[in-house]
Amino acid sequence: MKFFADTAEIEDIKDLAAIGLIDGVTTNPSLIMKSGRDFIEVTKEICGIVAGPVSAEVVALDHAGMMVEAEKLRKIADNVCIKVPLTLDGLKTCKALTSDGTMVNVTLCFSANQALLAAKAGATFVSPFVGRHDDNGFDGMQLISDIRMIYDNYDFETEILVASVRHGVHVLEAAKIGADVMTAPPSVIKGLVKHVLTDKGIEGFLADWAKTGQSI
Ligand code: E4P
Repeated sequence: MKFFADTAEIEDIKDLAAIGLIDGVTTNPSLIMKSGRDFIEVTKEICGIVAGPVSAEVVALDHAGMMVEAEKLRKIADNVCIKVPLTLDGLKTCKALTSDGTMVNVTLCFSANQALLAAKAGATFVSPFVGRHDDNGFDGMQLISDIRMIYDNYDFETEILVASVRHGVHVLEAAKIGADVMTAPPSVIKGLVKHVLTDKGIEGFLADWAKTGQSI
C-alpha cells in the first residue's frame, strides 16, 4: 500500500520523505489555509520534494471553472494530480483531464456508488473519507471493502485512496482490505512506529550494554 502525506507543511513532508515513508502528498483548501502559504508556490515546492503524485484541489464548482483552474495547476509540475469533488461537474472534469493524460483524484467520496461513478469517469484515484464517515455514524472501513469488491469485480484501474485517516487502525484495516493508497497526517504516519515493547526492549538492551562498560 502506498502512503501519501495529507499535509501542506513542507518540513513534515521533507522529514517523511527522508525516511522513505511517503509516495505522494494530498492537500486540500483547508490544509493550504493552515499552512499560511501561497497555493501555487507551496504546491510547486512539494512537487520538488516528492516524485509521486501531489494532489491540488480545484475550488470552482462548475466544469468550465474547474478546467480553467486545472489548467493553471497542472502547469506547476508533471506530478501534480488534480483533485475534483465528487459531483457531476467534477466527474466531467475528471473525464476530460484523464483523457488528456492528467492524473485526477476524485475526492469527498462517501458511497460505493459514488466510487463506481469515479471509476467510470476514468479517475486515477478515488478518495473515500473514512474518518468523516465514522464521525457520522457510518462504517468507513466497510465502505473501503465495498469499493474494493466492486473495483475488482470489473477490473477498474482507479486506485482506492483511503482518506480522512485518523489512526493506526484505519491504516491496518486499509492494508488488510487491499486499498491501493492511504493518506494520513504526518503524526499518524509517524505514530505507526510506536510500540511499548520496542521502547521497553531498547531500554533493557541499553541498561545491559552500560553494564558491559564497552563502546562501539
Ligand atoms: C484527503 O485527500 C483529504 O485531504 C483528507 O484526508 C481529509 O481529512 P480530514 O477529514 O481529516 O479533514
